[in-house]
Amino acid sequence: MKGLILSGGKGTRLYPLTYTRAKQLIPVANKPVLFRVIEAIRDAGIREIGIVIGDTGPEIREAVGDGSQFGEVKITYIPQESPDGLAHAVKISQHFLGEDRFVMFLGDNVIQGGISDLIRDFEHNTAWNSQIVLTEVEHPQHYGVAVLDDSGRIQQLVEKPQVPPSKLALVGIYMFDKHVFEAVNAIKPSWRHELEITDAIQWLVTNGYHVYPYVHQGWWIDTGKPRDMLDANSRVLEEIRPQILGKVDEQSEVDARVTVAATAEIINSVVRGPAIIGEYTVIKNSYVGPFTSIYHHAYIENCEIERSIILENARICNVPNRLQDSLIGRNVDVDVADKRPRALKLNLGDYSKVRLAPWEIK
Ligand code: G1P
Repeated sequence: MKGLILSGGKGTRLYPLTYTRAKQLIPVANKPVLFRVIEAIRDAGIREIGIVIGDTGPEIREAVGDGSQFGEVKITYIPQESPDGLAHAVKISQHFLGEDRFVMFLGDNVIQGGISDLIRDFEHNTAWNSQIVLTEVEHPQHYGVAVLDDSGRIQQLVEKPQVPPSKLALVGIYMFDKHVFEAVNAIKPSWRHELEITDAIQWLVTNGYHVYPYVHQGWWIDTGKPRDMLDANSRVLEEIRPQILGKVDEQSEVDARVTVAATAEIINSVVRGPAIIGEYTVIKNSYVGPFTSIYHHAYIENCEIERSIILENARICNVPNRLQDSLIGRNVDVDVADKRPRALKLNLGDYSKVRLAPWEIK
């Protein structure tokens, strides 16, 4: 089998972080989401992976390279000229996929438990033309939605319905055989001018091909919005095996569910897990609370931070309030002014969001 990862898109809902970084490269528990996707496919035994790239292609190529950093993985890049939909991405990948069965995985999705069992099922059941992954969600209108009949067979699939016929959403993981190419060539663009993979799967069902649903019971997160990134970060932090390799001084208190990278340093601070502190990062006279990931080369002094993601080279010092539910980008510098006027001085990029604590507003 082969793997196909979709890693295009502008990530507008994650502005300003995604002005300067592909959304799939934003780290969750200090590892880019895309790397987690590649590893999940590799761990299922697949070695040949195609990555469909768009405007952020150069950055993705630079970060992922030829795949050798992931072991025996071989990466092929497939440029998509314009974001014309998931089914369009399949269409332009035909030369890479050939006649092989494949798994398609959206590069900004994180799923609990990996996909090894799913891949094994699909590999062994050669009579299956496709397998799709479904899960119950609260707001199905934002996703592709499936209706199953009493015996669990797919009855209908519809993309982002205004009135959802069920709560079962299509997770961004799909398995196909070569018949999907007939489907993507037969369908027409949707109202949002995209060739929808949901329509292609509906075409397979209508034309008598065998499409099997798998209902996933664990968590699944499509990391499109800041809140989703923080949720994914919390979920993954809960599952990684903690390891304290860096320096923790005697004045510090670091609990058992914390990972401290080998070159990181914790000085006179309290770190409560699950949390992760990256390479060359220094935490001084601070409190780092649960569900926080601080990436590499960051510097935190006299601060309290909880349930946040802090990216590389950020420097956060002397902030009087606890920072919470925050996403802080690369090279960001937050400090307290050393002279009057006693005012907030902001130098924020386009679409930045600042939420001051309500009790400070008089
Ligand atoms: C896409 C699919 C949708 C699926 C979702 C999963 O939506 O079109 O069917 O449920 O991914 O993340 P999009 O990300 O294009 O809005």
